[in-house]
Amino acid sequence: MNHFLSTDGLAAEYLNRLLWRARDFAAGAESEALRSRSVGLLFFEPSTRTRLSFEQATRRLGGETLNLDIENSSIVKGESLEDTVATMVALGANLLVVRHSETGMPHQIAAMADAGVINAGDGTNQHPTQAILDLLTMYERFGRIEGLKVTIVGDVAHSRVARSNAFALAALGAAVRVVCPPELAPDVTTDWPALEVTHDLDQALSETEVAYLLRVQTERGGADGFPSTDWYHERYGLTTARLAEMKPDAVVMHPGPMNRGVEIDDAVADSERCLAVQQVRNGVPARMAILEALIRGAG
Ligand code: CP
Repeated sequence: MNHFLSTDGLAAEYLNRLLWRARDFAAGAESEALRSRSVGLLFFEPSTRTRLSFEQATRRLGGETLNLDIENSSIVKGESLEDTVATMVALGANLLVVRHSETGMPHQIAAMADAGVINAGDGTNQHPTQAILDLLTMYERFGRIEGLKVTIVGDVAHSRVARSNAFALAALGAAVRVVCPPELAPDVTTDWPALEVTHDLDQALSETEVAYLLRVQTERGGADGFPSTDWYHERYGLTTARLAEMKPDAVVMHPGPMNRGVEIDDAVADSERCLAVQQVRNGVPARMAILEALIRGAG
């Protein structure tokens, strides 16, 4: 069974194949790869972009979604995860897209399910489909990933997006640097590629081509280590003044949802140099490429 659970260990050749196919789909290519097939959506955590773009991607590939509304499902009556997964597969799900607050849950479901599993975000671990849409967005802007200077800023310790991007970018030869308060630094001795960690935001921004901002994840304790959001904004927020000091062709990215006024100024979020809307749009072709690869067994 083919699964898409992590960017850790993905070869450059495989990432490039997904990237080229995502570019095709972004340019309007059509595929019937999911004709007569179903994709089950199991979102145990809230989502707007990922869930909706998987729905759209499935439709564009000719398939249907089975969307489990967890809070109104038989899980609240005590049905086990195993039985829930088996029920979705019995109803026709060929692939399962899983988001969960617990690290490793998509891997557990992959071990029990007679279906391919895609990780749509597990705890603080991985969000690999986000990395593919981010690669597409960077490629569209710069025409290359190799050698690109990318600075990931913010609550890195709690970020599955940061980890997924760091592995994918490193595999394709980008130069990845991380800037964060010491309290939100990743433990680079475990499950991170080799990368530079610094606390000097202004120095890093002056050298970077992509400032990739992360949401402060208050629900995972991201704001516990600093006194106030004003304190954070002053030291680690991408303000209009900081944007003005970046290279003229440098861009800002954010996976969303944004905490405006915390990690990013309103004016920066709404500026032409912020690619957040393009990232959301690219969620559809990127996820089409992943769904197609898995259903065709090229995962
Ligand atoms: N970037 C992202 O995962 O957004 P959602 O939580 O809205 O899916």
